[in-house]
Amino acid sequence: MIRVLILSGPNLNLLGTREPEIYGYDTLADIERMCRDRAEIYGWIVDFRQSNHEGELVTWIQESIGEIDGLIVNAAAYTHTSIALHDALKMLGDTPIIEVHISDPEKRESFRHTSYITPVAAEVIKGYGSKGYVMALERLSVLFAGG
Ligand code: DQA
Repeated sequence: MIRVLILSGPNLNLLGTREPEIYGYDTLADIERMCRDRAEIYGWIVDFRQSNHEGELVTWIQESIGEIDGLIVNAAAYTHTSIALHDALKMLGDTPIIEVHISDPEKRESFRHTSYITPVAAEVIKGYGSKGYVMALERLSVLFAGG
């Protein structure tokens, strides 16, 4: 059974009310439901988590080493600051990592233009709104099929 960990970083727990003109009106619970629906079609196990704490995200990544087949991560603001997350993700080795952003950070303030996640990600999906999470599951299914 394929196991996928989906991690969301700080402030994403407030999706739906947080800057909806940028992030839309879907809540994180809505996104979780969309991901679970898709994972059910694929027959995958999905672990969907959010934290506002960098260290907690690092711990979850460490704990997932050897336990998962793929990781989807929206590290939110930590994307642009966290060498700790970069280092933790690197330890996943060959496990494919898909970086997701609801908005397109490169079209926003310059401080969002650097990602410490991209160098360790197989692919980046950004600017497609909340459906980017489901697109990431779709991309993983292609990667798992050898694409
Ligand atoms: C985000 C983009 C980041 O720059 C921002 O800090 C977020 C969300 C996105 O999903 O578009 O919190 O990762």
